[in-house]
Amino acid sequence: MQFFLDTANLEAIKKYAAWGMVDGVTTNPSLIAKEGVSLEKRIKEIAEVVNGSISSEVIATDLDGMLKEARRYSKWHKNVYVKVPMTAEGLQAVQILKKEGIRTNMTLAFSSAQALLAAKSGATLVSPFIGRLDDIGEDGMNVVGEIVQIYRNYGYKTKVLVASVRHPRHVVEAALIGADICTMPPEILEKLIHHPLTDKGITMFQNDWEKVKKLQK
Ligand code: E4P
Repeated sequence: MQFFLDTANLEAIKKYAAWGMVDGVTTNPSLIAKEGVSLEKRIKEIAEVVNGSISSEVIATDLDGMLKEARRYSKWHKNVYVKVPMTAEGLQAVQILKKEGIRTNMTLAFSSAQALLAAKSGATLVSPFIGRLDDIGEDGMNVVGEIVQIYRNYGYKTKVLVASVRHPRHVVEAALIGADICTMPPEILEKLIHHPLTDKGITMFQNDWEKVKKLQK
């Protein structure tokens, strides 16, 4: 499973890219607003750090506006994937952009039916938002399972990018289901590495080593 970072924070991207764990980055208007930066500048900065897919989201909701923004974004860097919302206009945009060779990430998907439409339109990626589904008492991971099964049934090429990840267990469950990609906030990636028994084990080994240290050459 590929790991994407769900952030526009350059320092975090640099830190975790150095771990060798960042295959791509997803941004959205809220994440860009949090950083208070220009979208174009930040996408270009990220592209210098990460050699992988970088999602940049359109703001327009009409077809022409989406296409204009998508074409502009795609000129910024060869790794830009244009995030397009799951709407009728978005589905049309995805089909047109595919013909132009522009890769897309169909975002704000909350059902397997929507993901089926994204695949039929030829989206490169589809992003089911599982945390937001869990937040309203639904089962986000169940939707991911349905999408993976549907895509397998028909051999759709669209990749499943699990988004809106809230905790490490979401990452593990996405991997168990066989999702292609999981995008996660930096703090979730950080949490994946830690286990209290690992820390306890290191301390115990160090303490025991102290007892025989003087016997070593
Ligand atoms: C995905 O690409 C989105 O940026 C993101 O996962 C949304 O997550 P949130 O529900 O935590 O805002």
